[in-house]
Amino acid sequence: MKTKFEPFKIKTIEHIPITKKEDRKVYLKESFYNPFYLKSDLITIDLLTDSGTTAMSSKQWAALMDGDESYAGSKSYYKFENIIREITGFKHILPTHQGRAAERVLFSTTGGKGKHILNNTHFDTTRGNIEYTGATASDFITEIGKRPDLIGDFKGNIDLVALKEYIEKVGKENIPLCMLTVTNNTGGGQPVSMENIRQTKELLKGYGIPLYLDCCRFAENAYFIKRREKGYHTKTIKEIAQEMFSYADGCTMSAKKDGMANTGGFIATNDDALFDKFKVNLIVTEGFLTYGGLARRDLEALAQGFVEVLDESYLEYRVEQVKSLGDMLLTAGVPILVPTGGHAVYLDAARFCPHIPPEQFPGQSIACEIYVEGGIRSCEIGSIMFGKTGENGKFIPATMELVRLAIPRRVYTQSHMQYIAECISEIHKRRKELKGMKITWEAPFLRHFTAKFEYV
Ligand code: F0G
Repeated sequence: MKTKFEPFKIKTIEHIPITKKEDRKVYLKESFYNPFYLKSDLITIDLLTDSGTTAMSSKQWAALMDGDESYAGSKSYYKFENIIREITGFKHILPTHQGRAAERVLFSTTGGKGKHILNNTHFDTTRGNIEYTGATASDFITEIGKRPDLIGDFKGNIDLVALKEYIEKVGKENIPLCMLTVTNNTGGGQPVSMENIRQTKELLKGYGIPLYLDCCRFAENAYFIKRREKGYHTKTIKEIAQEMFSYADGCTMSAKKDGMANTGGFIATNDDALFDKFKVNLIVTEGFLTYGGLARRDLEALAQGFVEVLDESYLEYRVEQVKSLGDMLLTAGVPILVPTGGHAVYLDAARFCPHIPPEQFPGQSIACEIYVEGGIRSCEIGSIMFGKTGENGKFIPATMELVRLAIPRRVYTQSHMQYIAECISEIHKRRKELKGMKITWEAPFLRHFTAKFEYV
């Protein structure tokens, strides 16, 4: 059969708000033209993030009732620890309330002034946690990974030549660890190949530098390896994930993604001495070792979520749903980052609106229009998020101007995808009418969340 379908049926539903276009113009103005300020009851389809927005299964909801809310030694923690150890093989596993808490534990222990943390591309909270300690966060994405218009199987790969040069330049003693973000969210949800993970490990081993994975979307990455990399077609997702983790010395995870639940995260390591430091840090800031800032019932939902995410029929549906939205947009001539990644379609705003220069934030203008046209919320990932002002006051744009349409897991159906594609295709037809934007207020740090805008 050619028709692909959702490998689940719907047991409970949530109504979504339907609003009028004229009213949406007002809501957007009242939200300072920043979709982060929109109230969710004014949004028909919310593609702001795939993080913590997953629809849980009936087994996960049932597992919540089984949560053992003991402060210490909860059996729910051991279920959570067992499944994560089975997948990752790591010796020490500590829960955290979400991904950035795991990052804070890791970098407040290993970072500091004069230290360098390397990555294919740091996610913004990872960079934030590193820079907060005074350390430097550097990205080493390959050239093709910076080109939204070029097709490649593993555009999340790290550039090993540039990585080696940098290690030689700053000195291995100043590099506490190197990370690989799988999949590479900031670069379009693109996967990292097993070969690249293995070669990164080999390179780092020569310098005695540990490798950590930022593994929020490890199962989606494993699925791409199965489909695209030689030698993996007959392996299970679990076997592929196990091999990915076998090259790493530890990881941080926001389990709000491939943990298939609404909150949670963890940090894991094989390093006994580091683990002792993590424990102290966790107890001071998150909670005891067996709950780390979560309700124990959340650990139950996650333990079940980690079983479900390894199901290949789920992953096939997941990746194909994202691809189908991308394909509909491509057919309508809408420029997107290709190939589509695991969790989102990224519009290429630079090619969508070439008449709007990067300093007038084409991505923000498109995101605003998408809300007005269809009540759909998306997110600019371009010069608002990553643009800077240089020392001479000159504007330095982001590498890419993108708008992310992140697809929550198991939440929207195929007709929702069709509706999204139709709205964006309509906007693309009249794209020349879109106007540039300017910032009227911004915070000194992570400005995209709270900045206020006007049309120029
Ligand atoms: N690392 C990556 C690659 C991420 O995508 C995220 C979150 C984090 C770390 C931080 O995890 O939110 O649980 O603290 N990404 C979300 C997103 C917010 O929308 O892409 P967190």
